[in-house]
Amino acid sequence: MSAAAVPVIALDGPGGTGKGTVGLQLAQRLGWHFLDSGMLYRALALQALRQGLAMTAEAALAALVETLELDFVRPGPMAGRALLAGEAVELRSESCATAASRLAVLPQVRQALLVRQQAYRHPPGLVADGRDMGSVVFPDARLKIFLTATPEERARRRFRQLENMGIAARLSDLIEAVNQRDARDRDRAQSPMQSALDAVVIDTTGLSRAAVLRRVVTLWERRACVL
Ligand code: DC
Repeated sequence: MSAAAVPVIALDGPGGTGKGTVGLQLAQRLGWHFLDSGMLYRALALQALRQGLAMTAEAALAALVETLELDFVRPGPMAGRALLAGEAVELRSESCATAASRLAVLPQVRQALLVRQQAYRHPPGLVADGRDMGSVVFPDARLKIFLTATPEERARRRFRQLENMGIAARLSDLIEAVNQRDARDRDRAQSPMQSALDAVVIDTTGLSRAAVLRRVVTLWERRACVL
């Protein structure tokens, strides 16, 4: 099967919409691969912070992509944990998210990460989650979904997520950070976060993850029937 023939489901939208959980569960249900593309941006940001690179050093950051040794722990209690050159790292911190959002505006960095993201397309299929999966990275995705939710709801979800990880945070700070990251992701010139024209938009405000997953599965079953 050529890579282009491998079906992709693109799941885009801002952080805190439950994309990650829904995408992973969908991939498990279908027996497909899963790409959390934000992890690539976050891993690059962490590596750059460690090397003392500025989040504006475009050429150096793009070059760093080529040497980034990123892997993920597969099954087991640590599943999904990122490994940077074999070392388990925490990429879910606010500092990583902010740094990732800053370097994500740089065209050379996005270009360098494009090929790496496309390399995750393996049989029998790929669920890809991010900001531009349906619009740029996999424009031929069989199903494109764009998840939304109000900034307040997303900040509350983030607050609970951080709480579960034992990380202290203030809700008002998180709302501000969510709004700032949204503005940066939406207003950047290259691949801004936007719903692809042929994407189905689901507002997840007030919906449980299970309810969102059910809707996505139904959409896919209908799509798979007509393809
Ligand atoms: O989904 P996330 O919060 O892990 O993403 C972290 C940052 O990476 C986010 O602020 C924007 C950027 N990003 C991107 O620009 N394009 C993607 N496909 C995924 C993430």
